[in-house]
Amino acid sequence: MAELLVSAPAKINLHLEVLGLRSDGFHELAMVMQTLDLVDTLRLRPTADGAVSLRCDRSDLPTDGGNLIVKAAELLKARVGLPELGVAMELSKRIPIGAGLAGGSSNGAAALVGLNALWGCGFSRDQLLAMAAELGSDMPFCIDGGTQLCFGRGEQLEPMPLEQPPALAVLLIKHPEASVSTPWAYGRCREQRGDFYLEQESDFEQRRQLLRQGPLLAALRGELSLPAIRNDLQQVVEPEVESVRAGLELLRRAQGAVAVAMSGSGPSLFALFPDRSLAEQARADLASSLQQAGFEAWVCRCTGSGATLV
Ligand code: C5P
Repeated sequence: MAELLVSAPAKINLHLEVLGLRSDGFHELAMVMQTLDLVDTLRLRPTADGAVSLRCDRSDLPTDGGNLIVKAAELLKARVGLPELGVAMELSKRIPIGAGLAGGSSNGAAALVGLNALWGCGFSRDQLLAMAAELGSDMPFCIDGGTQLCFGRGEQLEPMPLEQPPALAVLLIKHPEASVSTPWAYGRCREQRGDFYLEQESDFEQRRQLLRQGPLLAALRGELSLPAIRNDLQQVVEPEVESVRAGLELLRRAQGAVAVAMSGSGPSLFALFPDRSLAEQARADLASSLQQAGFEAWVCRCTGSGATLV
């Protein structure tokens, strides 16, 4: 195979509920994640020298062994047991970095899916999902994307069968100089909650069931209007990160928005609209305020796929 291109979409959280603190130090979560048509592209070219290399068009993104793309390639190579496999990879980055949009996880998922095909490893979807879970909590979701409920650390997936992706348009904003470390956000969450966590599996399951049967999923199926978006990390991050406070304030002014929230551990923020023209209009209305405050803005739609061979 000469060369492969894989697309790696961003996600937003339509729900992020912190249920408990697990014995492995991670948080027990109940989330709904949704992929968007804001995508990075990973180009893969096979080499026979056993080397894994990565280049990126953003110079501020580390491309060494800490990058999830390189980790994914090394893990796949080790599992298939062929040290001579090599690849030269090039990442074209559009998803903002350190933003709570799972850009890094999605890139790693794209590497797993793409290299499985390029190297002819023959791993099944389930095997790829298990490898993804070893590399990061959000990475399994990024393999198939779409609209999914994500439990456990985030790696236990329940895809939401929808005939088409939710017909919501997304106005996404991020301040280019702001970033939030996910471990920091969860650490602050732990400090603030103290012992205020659910502990029993039966209590976790009750919360999951409430989410499965609640108004958010009905709204995503088009049966109800959208309820307020819950993101428990927003309460933690909003008081401490100025750009999150300022951005939320701006988006709350948007005409026609049906919900406004932070994605993941931030600092990216989004407003949801019933259709694209309303989202475009809101971006135009807010353009000078967004520019003055230094925000970048994108209008996106929800999609039904994750890492995809192009
Ligand atoms: O799994 P991932 O590498 O994305 O997680 C990054 C960090 O986020 C973890 O080290 C942990 O501090 C925090 N985290 C958590 N609970 C989760 C997911 C992530 O506490 N369910």
